[in-house]
Amino acid sequence: MSAKATSDVWWKNAVVYCLDVETFLDSDGDGCGDLKGLTDRLDYLAGLGVSCLWLMPFYPSNDRDDGYDITDFYGIDGRLGTPGDFAEMIRTASDRGIRVVADLVVNHTSDQHPWFQAARSDRDSPYRDFYVWSDDPPDNPPAPTFPDQETSVWTFDEQAGQYYLHRFYRHQPDLNVTNPKLRDEIVKMMGFWLQLGMSGFRVDAVPFLLETLGVDAAEADSLPDPHTYLRELRAFVGRRTGDGILLGEVNLPFEQQTAFFGSDYGDELTMQFDFVGMQQLYLGLARGDARPLAAALTARPTPPDSCQWASFVRNHDELTLDKLSDDERREVFDAFGPDPSMQVFGRGLARRLPPMMGGDERRVRMIYSLLFALPGTPVLFYGEEIGMGEHPDVSGRQAVRTPMQWTPDESGGFSRGPADVFPAPVVTGVFGPGNVNVADQLNDPDSLLSFMQRLTRRYRSCPELGWGSCEVLSQPSSAVLALQTSWDDASVITLHNFADVAAEVRFRPTLPPGDVILTELASGSTIRPDRDGSVQLRLEPYDHSWLRVTDTSSREIT
Ligand code: GLC
Repeated sequence: MSAKATSDVWWKNAVVYCLDVETFLDSDGDGCGDLKGLTDRLDYLAGLGVSCLWLMPFYPSNDRDDGYDITDFYGIDGRLGTPGDFAEMIRTASDRGIRVVADLVVNHTSDQHPWFQAARSDRDSPYRDFYVWSDDPPDNPPAPTFPDQETSVWTFDEQAGQYYLHRFYRHQPDLNVTNPKLRDEIVKMMGFWLQLGMSGFRVDAVPFLLETLGVDAAEADSLPDPHTYLRELRAFVGRRTGDGILLGEVNLPFEQQTAFFGSDYGDELTMQFDFVGMQQLYLGLARGDARPLAAALTARPTPPDSCQWASFVRNHDELTLDKLSDDERREVFDAFGPDPSMQVFGRGLARRLPPMMGGDERRVRMIYSLLFALPGTPVLFYGEEIGMGEHPDVSGRQAVRTPMQWTPDESGGFSRGPADVFPAPVVTGVFGPGNVNVADQLNDPDSLLSFMQRLTRRYRSCPELGWGSCEVLSQPSSAVLALQTSWDDASVITLHNFADVAAEVRFRPTLPPGDVILTELASGSTIRPDRDGSVQLRLEPYDHSWLRVTDTSSREIT
C-alpha cells in the first residue's frame, strides 16, 4: 500500500534515532567521537531506515553531566568539531532524507555559563534574575532529581550571598523563565539552530522548565502561564520552519501529560515520550503478561491530530521505573536488574535490553517488533539496532553511553586513538565488539541489524501505526498483546507474545466487507478469517506477527 503521509507532518511516522556525537565515531583518532565521524555514518543510518536524528547536547559544556551542563548555547564543543562540520553534517543528513533535532536544555545552564558567572558576582547584573534566588528557601522543597548526588534543590552560593535553585546537580543552576529577557534569549538561540537547518528540538525536563512560571504568584499578572509559554515556543518553531517539532521530556502520569500537548488543536509539544507505557511494558515483560501494557494503551489519552506519542524501550538515562508501585518496581528489578549495581537512584536500571533479557534474541526481537507496532513514533537509542549491552563496571547512567560498536576490534572500530581517553570504555565480554558489531551484522540476513532494517521498512509501509487509531483486541491469552490499528480504509493487526510458552489465540478484528485475507508481513503467508469473522493462530514462545488486512484482489509486498 502507498504511504499517504504528507511531508509537513513527517514526524507522525518517523523513525527517530538518538545518539551522542562523542560516542558514535571518532574520525581523527583523538579518542573522541566527532561530527565528521557522524557525517561519515549517515549512510549507515539511512540504510537502517532512520528518518530523524536526535543529537544529545553537542554544545560547549563543563562536561559534568555529559553535555547537559551547557556553557555556550551558540557553540559546538571543540572536541566534536567546528560549526563548519556541523553544517556539513546537517546538509548531508538532509541529502539522505534525515532530519536532525537536538536537545534544547534551557531548564538550567552550567554554573560556568557566563550568565551565571555574571549573576552570582553582582546583584545588579541584568543576568541576576536569569536564575532563581532566595534568602530563605521554602521549608518543603521538592526532592532533588539525582538523590545520590544532591541533598537539596537549593544551594547557598558564597559569592552571590543567596541560595539558588537547581532541580538537578548543584552545578546546574535553574533558569528563571519569568524573566522576559531570558525568554527572548531562548527563542533567539532556538532560531539560530533552526536557521542552521535543524528540524526542532528534544526539550529537556519540560515540567521543571515551566515551573517558575507556575510558582511565582507575586508576578502572576504579568507572566504568561506555563502553557501559554510552551505554546509560544511551538508557534515560534512553526513560524521559522513550517514543520519543525518539539519532542518533550515530560515524565508525568497521563492525566498531567496530556496538558502538554496543548488545546484540542495540539499547539504545545508536538510529541511526548510515553514514559508510562514504557514502564508498564517492562512490568509485563517481567511477568510474561501483556495486560499491564494493554491497560496503559487503553488508558493513554489520544493526542490531538497535530501531536504524537513517542515510544521507546531505552533512552540515554536510567531506565526509569518511577511510575510503578514499590512492589511492581521490585518485580522488575528482580527480573532484570537484581544487583544493586544495576540500579540507579533507587528508581531505575542502568542496563540495556539484550543483557536484561539474558541475551534471548527471540525475546529481544519480539520487544523491538512491539516498539514499532505501538501506535506512535518509535525512538531508538544508538546501538540498540545491533543489540549492544551496557558496561557493568561503569557506574550510573553512563553505563549505557559506551562507544558505538562498528567492528570486532577491541575498540569496536570507534576510534584509532588511545582507549584511555575515550569518553567511556568500550563494552567487553559477551556483548563486546567481538560478538556485537555492525560490520558482522550488515551482511548477515539473520542478524538483529537486518531484522531491524526490515522492521523500520515495515513500520514505514504501515502508516496507520503513525496516523491511525488503535484498539486492543480481546483474545484468551494474557501473555499476548493483540492490537488492530486502522487509518482510513487501511488496517494492520499486530500480535506479540510476552511469554516463553506458545499461545493459541482467537480474536475478532474489525474487517471490511468482502473477501478478506490477512497477509503476514514477514513471511507473506496468508490467513483467511473464519466465516464468523474470527481469526485463529498460534504464536510460538516470544513470537510476533504483523498482519495486514486486505481483500483478496490486492497484492501485498512483504
Ligand atoms: C534530562 C536528561 C538527563 C540530564 C538532565 C539534566 O533529564 O535526559 O540526561 O541529566 O535532564 O539536564
